[in-house]
Amino acid sequence: MELDSILLPIKKDLILFDEKLKENLNSDSALISQVAMHLINRKGKRLRPAMVFLSYGACANLKVNSAFNLQVMSVALAVEFIHTATLLHDDVIDQSKVRRGQVSVNHKWNNMVSVLMGDFLLARALRLIVETKSLSLLSTASRATEKLSIGEMKEVQESHNFDLDEETYLQIISAKTASLFTASCESGALIAGVEKKVQERLKEYGENLGIAFQITDDLLDWLGESEKTGKGLGNDLKEGKITLPLIHTLRECDPRSRKKTLRLLENDFNQKDFDQILSLIKGNGGVEYARKRTTSFGQKALSFLSELEDSKYKKALQDLVSFVIQRDK
Ligand code: FPP
Ligand code: MG
Repeated sequence: MELDSILLPIKKDLILFDEKLKENLNSDSALISQVAMHLINRKGKRLRPAMVFLSYGACANLKVNSAFNLQVMSVALAVEFIHTATLLHDDVIDQSKVRRGQVSVNHKWNNMVSVLMGDFLLARALRLIVETKSLSLLSTASRATEKLSIGEMKEVQESHNFDLDEETYLQIISAKTASLFTASCESGALIAGVEKKVQERLKEYGENLGIAFQITDDLLDWLGESEKTGKGLGNDLKEGKITLPLIHTLRECDPRSRKKTLRLLENDFNQKDFDQILSLIKGNGGVEYARKRTTSFGQKALSFLSELEDSKYKKALQDLVSFVIQRDK
């Protein structure tokens, strides 16, 4: 199913969201305006704001109508700003040249501009959440931001560790990616004012969806098409990031293949080496294993929605799970 069709119940909200996003990028700095124009040029999937709207709708069982709900719109904008800030910083860390199908900010301008634009967006996100006058929302967003910074730090720390195990990998992606998914869903539920146990279910949905999302992202780094993903392939390996298909392969393959792969990984490798490692992954079921794990995290995500009353928003949250697992971009 296409993402646009899944998000039809919040189409109006997303249109208003795009307008507000532009408004909120205004500042006195000409350079910030230029970078903002560049960022707006290629919008992302807007999954996190969509999750704020949908979680709110599914919990409140009301029409979302964000035009009249300042809190929902402010949090949706804030999570998108936090997400974009992390990408601006991440592209510096990963030395990426492409993002969302266009030249990345660090490559078009330089690292300083990318880091500072990230700081600006983070500050704007803070301001937006402060405007909601809700300490709970502020606490949710600040804890998620802290967690994703710790996750990224751990990933940096574990890079080139070819003994990385699945559990540590899952901890990293839970922190660096799932934390903002979790916060988006939790915020929607918080604004809807549902009881704690329903908030918890939405949080768990976000956590499991976020993990499934990142495993798929890591799989796409091996198998994807640049024109669709909008970013370079094989970047993870170049940065020494060991992800699930390779973790599984190094764990399962015969000792000779393991030794050979480690030798390739420890030295500077070229396209031929990448292809060799990829065929070893394919031969050892690394792709199937990663897919199996995304499916199981996806099912777990769905299970946390089961007790919510049926609505078009709940249906969209359910369909998002299939989208996240099957996506090729
Ligand atoms: C993308 O992962 C990066 C993240 C999900 C988190 C990045 C977090 C930080 C840089 C630290 C905190 C920053 C702020 C502003 C608080 P990826 O590299 O696997 O994905 P990619 O392939 O899209 O680059
Ligand atoms: Mg990256």
